[in-house]
Amino acid sequence: MTNKPHSHAQWSSRIAFMLAAVGSSVGLGNIWKFPYMTGESGGGAFVLVYLVCILLIGLPILMSEWLLGRLGQKNPISTMNRIAGRLKRSKAWVLIGVGGILAAWLILSFYSVIGGWALAYIRYSATASFIGLDGEGVGALFNGLLGSPGLLLLWHSLFMILTIAIVAGGVSGGLERASKILMPALAVLLLVMVGYAATTGSFEAGLDYLFSPDFSKLTGEVALAAMGHAFFTLSLGMGIMMAYGSYLSDDVNIGRTALTVVILDTVIALAAGMAIFPVVFANGLDPAAGPGLIFQTLPLAFGNMSGGVLFGTLFFVLLVFAAWTSAISLLEPIVEWLEEKSPLNRLTSALVAGVATWILGIAALLSLNDWATLTLFGMPIFDLLDYVTSKIMLPLTGLATIVFVGWFMGRDEVRAQLNMNGMAFAWWRFSARFIAPIGVAIVFVYNLFH
Ligand code: TRP
Repeated sequence: MTNKPHSHAQWSSRIAFMLAAVGSSVGLGNIWKFPYMTGESGGGAFVLVYLVCILLIGLPILMSEWLLGRLGQKNPISTMNRIAGRLKRSKAWVLIGVGGILAAWLILSFYSVIGGWALAYIRYSATASFIGLDGEGVGALFNGLLGSPGLLLLWHSLFMILTIAIVAGGVSGGLERASKILMPALAVLLLVMVGYAATTGSFEAGLDYLFSPDFSKLTGEVALAAMGHAFFTLSLGMGIMMAYGSYLSDDVNIGRTALTVVILDTVIALAAGMAIFPVVFANGLDPAAGPGLIFQTLPLAFGNMSGGVLFGTLFFVLLVFAAWTSAISLLEPIVEWLEEKSPLNRLTSALVAGVATWILGIAALLSLNDWATLTLFGMPIFDLLDYVTSKIMLPLTGLATIVFVGWFMGRDEVRAQLNMNGMAFAWWRFSARFIAPIGVAIVFVYNLFH
C-alpha cells in the first residue's frame, strides 16, 4: 500500500484519528437517544443487551470497517468495488456503500431536528428559563417547542447550516483542535451532572433502574432496539468508519484503537443515564417519556442546582458540539459521493446534499406537530426514519460487512491487517464468522415473526 493517491492524506497522528472517530460516534446517540430508549424499554435488561451487542457485534464490525477502509483507500463504494474486484467477489458487495449513503441522508434529517432542540435549549438555559421550574414547567417548555413548527424550523435550519458550512469547507483543522478541548469538557460536565444526581436522594433508584436487569422486560423488540442502537451509537453500518479507515496509517493497531473508541462511547452513554434517571425518579417523572426525556429532566437539575444557568448553558453548548461533529460525519459521505460522481464541486455538492437533508428534516419536524396523525406503516415520519435506519438498514449493512470480512476475505490478509495473533485472532475470527452474524440474524428473524 505504498502507492496512495495523492489526494488521500493520512491522519496526522493516532490521536487525530481517534478524535475523529470519537467525534463521530459520541453524539446525540449517547446523551439523547440512549437514555430515552432505556426508559422506553424498561431499564436494565435493555442496557445489558446493549452492552453485549456493543462488545460482541459492534466491536468486530467497527474493526472490519476500519480494515476494509485501510485496504481499499477510497470512499466506501469504491473501496468495496476495489476489494471485491481484487478478490473476484460479486460486485453486489458495493451495495454496502450505497446503502450507507442512503442511510446517512435519512439519519441526518431527523438528527438535525434534534440538534436544533439542543440549540434551542442553549438559549432557554442562557436566559435562565429553567429557574424555578417544576416537572410540569419543564414539560410545558418542551411541548411549547415541539408544538411550534416555526421554532423547530428555525433551529433545525441553523443546525443544518452549521453542518453544511464545515463540510463545504473541507474537514478543518480548527474543528480538530476544538474537539481536543470540547469533547473532554463534555465528559467532565457529565460527571458534574452525575454528581448532582447523587444528591437527589434517588441515585440508588436510578442506578438500580439502569443496572439491575428485569428479564421479564426482555422482548424481541427490546433486543432489536438495543442492537440497532449499538450500530447507531458507534456510527456503524454506513461506511462512515470505512471512510475514516481509509485515512488510517498502517502502523495503527486497529483492535486497540477500536476498543478505546468503544469504551469511551459506552462510558459517555452510561454517564448520561446515571445523570438522568435519578432526576427522573426524584421528581416523579416518567422514564418512558420518549425522545423528550433529557429535555424534560436535565432542565430540572439545572433549575435547582447552584450555578445552574452557567452549567446548563455550557452543557447544551457541548451537546450541540457533540451532535455537530457527528452530523458532519453523516453529511461527509454524501458530499464525497456527489463530488466524485457528479460534475458538482465541493461547495455545490455540500449545498445540494445539505438542502436535500434539510427538506426531509422539515417533514420530520412537522410530524411532531401538524402532521402528527399522518402515518406510514403505522408510524409518524419521525419514528419511521428512525425505525428504518436503526432497526433495518444499519444492522443489514453491518451484517454484510462482517460476513464479507469473515467469510469472503483471506484469513491471512485479515490477520495481517489486524496485526493480531494466536488466541486473540482465533477468537476474533470466530466472533466475526459466527457470533456477530448469527446474533444479528437471530434478532432480525425473531422480530420478523413477532
Ligand atoms: N454515532 C452518532 C451518535 O451516537 C450518530 C452517527 C454519526 C451515526 N454518524 C453515524 C449513526 C453513522 C449511524 C451511522 O450520535
